[in-house]
Amino acid sequence: MSMPTVEMTGLGKRYRRTFALRDVSLRAGVGVTGLLGPNGAGKTTLLRIAATVLTPDLGAAYLFGLSPHSDDTRRHIRRQLGYLPQDVGIHRFFTAFEFVDYVAILKEMAHTRKRHQEVRRVLGLVGLADLAGRRVHTLSGGARRRLALAQALLGDPALLILDEPTAGLDPEQRLLFRELLSRLGEDRTVLLSSHHSDDLAALCGHIVVLREGRTVFAGPPAELTATARGRVWTSGTRDPGAMLAWRTGEGAYRNVGDPPPGVDFVAPQLEDAYLLLVRSP
Ligand SMILES: Nc1ncnc2c1ncn2[C@@H]1O[C@H](COP(=O)(O)OP(=O)(O)O)[C@@H](O)[C@H]1O
Ligand SMILES: [Mg+2]
Repeated sequence: MSMPTVEMTGLGKRYRRTFALRDVSLRAGVGVTGLLGPNGAGKTTLLRIAATVLTPDLGAAYLFGLSPHSDDTRRHIRRQLGYLPQDVGIHRFFTAFEFVDYVAILKEMAHTRKRHQEVRRVLGLVGLADLAGRRVHTLSGGARRRLALAQALLGDPALLILDEPTAGLDPEQRLLFRELLSRLGEDRTVLLSSHHSDDLAALCGHIVVLREGRTVFAGPPAELTATARGRVWTSGTRDPGAMLAWRTGEGAYRNVGDPPPGVDFVAPQLEDAYLLLVRSP
């Protein structure tokens, strides 16, 4: 990797007695990097540090080779990044257009005509061009999530930080998002968190799995999936060695866990590997 857009080393962050991050390191360059982990694993904390919203207690974060310590470098970094927080507060009585235009003003886009053009561009990217005049409180949850993404795309930033961008979207919207994110990841750095392991498997060149603030895996998705080889098998009844098992539509049990000898293994999925990682003692 040439100079990474995001370089974090030995990050630690503590809230009173909770260690949200312990010694986490991450490098991300052009392409899509995904964060996976159960609720409370530290994903949002890590993304907030990357977005320069939060300062770590330990370790260092560099964005575009700069440390966000001074007002100057922070401003320089923020001009090149778009951030979609996990929970975006959008004033209900704004229209979709007004909301994105408001964020664009905060992003120092002073020229009205050019700004409005840019607002229309990002609304088009997320498929909301036709709903630009609708008030936010009349939009569906999925449309609101896409609206929140639109503001992160303003100014075509070189770094996109997206906290659960596909949460609350229906399958069709998720696939459209997938297409958009993969396109965006072609020539910029996208760092995102998701609970949808299939989205991450499809999009990411690099996945980091967090558990209780620690990195338990970092590498390409195929490598993560491979860690579950020999741990997924089928049988006629639920296997006692299974951590998880269910009866499939075809009537056989699909087991994940510690197999007894002589079973029929099946190819693992990324979510099998994820489950084994976060559930192992
Ligand atoms: N502002 C805060 N005050 C106290 N505890 C927090 C705060 N933010 C996060 N935490 C705690 O830090 C841990 C990591 O949280 P978070 O980064 O939100 O994880 P995730 O996004 O993976 O669900 C959790 O135990 C959470 O309760
Ligand atoms: Mg979170």
